[in-house]
Amino acid sequence: MPLRSKDLLGIEDLSLEQIQLILDTAESFREISTRPIKKVPTLRGKTVINLFFEASTRTRTSFEIAAKRLSADAINISASSSSVVKGETLVDTARNLEAMAPDVIVIRHASSGAPHQLARVCRAAIVNAGDGAHEHPTQALLDAFTILENKKTIEGLKVAIVGDIAHSRVARSNCLLLGKMGARVTVCGPPTLLPLEFEKTLCRYGSDLAGQGGRGGALTVTHQIDEALQDADVVMMLRIQLERQQEAFFPSVREYFRYYGLSAKRMRAARSDAIIMHPGPINRGVEIDSDVADGPYSVILDQVTSGVAIRMAVLFLLTGGAGKEEEH
Ligand code: CP
Repeated sequence: MPLRSKDLLGIEDLSLEQIQLILDTAESFREISTRPIKKVPTLRGKTVINLFFEASTRTRTSFEIAAKRLSADAINISASSSSVVKGETLVDTARNLEAMAPDVIVIRHASSGAPHQLARVCRAAIVNAGDGAHEHPTQALLDAFTILENKKTIEGLKVAIVGDIAHSRVARSNCLLLGKMGARVTVCGPPTLLPLEFEKTLCRYGSDLAGQGGRGGALTVTHQIDEALQDADVVMMLRIQLERQQEAFFPSVREYFRYYGLSAKRMRAARSDAIIMHPGPINRGVEIDSDVADGPYSVILDQVTSGVAIRMAVLFLLTGGAGKEEEH
């Protein structure tokens, strides 16, 4: 069954069926990465361009690995090595790349909506690998995949998302996805990083979920971390995104950690089998203590592993999708 969508721009546009299809396809691809020879011919002859205008370790590498494990040709372009530095526009860059007939362009950009702009002018499938503070759909998909690996279901789970909510595309995509899948999501951060306007948007997402064919997830907002952690099944910590902040949103890193940092002591409020997640990169001692990040309940590196399977699934489904079982 194909994805029935040319591009993957955000979780907002995906139905529950499309989300399930990506997760199921990723599950079928997971095993390839455990083989001694981690390569199948499924996307032989396809070309994937990774166009990254922002720094990335996990997303860029895992899209490249995903493409190569499926035998696609993968080309990486960063802003500093592209003609953007000579004044070329994003659209002109994309049109020139498209003249070389890629099948997929994966884009990360600091501006919200940049992937949508490319989707309008390109024939190639466009994948949003993070646009400003808007969405990071494959991160939310790999997070859901990791939660399912550990908890078997998402419906009914309490998921606490804590940190710099206002600047976080990961928070936005996860609120939408986990809500659609029936989780009870509690977002938490200081009022300066979870302002009232954002609260209203998130709550509107929450109330829209039922109308989007979701499984009736709920979304609540708190500024108290202990309330967010209470009985949580999943704790997702977010990085303080200093590069997106034009002003001081909290007095000091030390004070931020005191009120919103995750420590082993604080984790006692969560369920005893709670898992700890973080999209990375982590700032040790700012939003999370090292003994928690590296502790037995942390699935932070499992999230990175899940990223390869999810991105294999996305590339596969956007470039045709049918006949996979016969081909690998
Ligand atoms: N989670 C995430 O997007 O990490 P990178 O910025 O390293 O890609």
